[in-house]
Amino acid sequence: MSPVEILDCLVADEVQANLGRAIIGREIMVLEQIGSTNDAVLEMARHSEEGLVLFAEQQTAGRGQRGNRWESPARKGLWFSILLRPKIDINQSARLTAWAAETVSDSIQKEFLLETSIKLPNDIQINGRKVAGVLVEMRAQEKRPHLAIAGIGINVNQSLEDFPENLRDRAISLAMALGRQVDRQKFAIAVLRNLDRTYRESFAS
Ligand code: BTN
Repeated sequence: MSPVEILDCLVADEVQANLGRAIIGREIMVLEQIGSTNDAVLEMARHSEEGLVLFAEQQTAGRGQRGNRWESPARKGLWFSILLRPKIDINQSARLTAWAAETVSDSIQKEFLLETSIKLPNDIQINGRKVAGVLVEMRAQEKRPHLAIAGIGINVNQSLEDFPENLRDRAISLAMALGRQVDRQKFAIAVLRNLDRTYRESFAS
């Protein structure tokens, strides 16, 4: 890894230290490469507490809605999943999708003063192009809150050429919208702080 690449790594301890006593971010892990963070968190769920956040620097089998592939190139975005045990019914996953999409959208607006919109149910857009997406998956549990995995992908530092040709007229990164590179670590902290606050307001009793 070159010195520039090392500087651009997500550092779990540093993110955690900036979150204080949070539900979301109570435990943070960063993996260099994995298939899909949603699949990995589902596997870890039995032995993990609500609020675990798993980031991957790169996903090799990132999944989007409707079986679509989610492009997740190394160190270009924020690709992460959150383990949740919300007190909602199994058929209410749309509430979690709306919560995550709105919070990510608001975070982009506040941190970068960019205008965003939400294309329901799960696309966050800038100028009609997708900058982020949400994939919520739930598993029923007996006699305790159901399990939910909120997977979030945010395009951060890609250039147009980093996207496959078929996505170039539909996708955008924060760097493309701002005309400068973005500090992923700093933005990860801001998004997690906001997700923790809004999750407590809407789902934690
Ligand atoms: C979509 O807009 O279609 C949903 C995209 C969700 C992508 C994220 S990246 C982290 C997590 N792991 C996955 O495999 N997918 C979600």
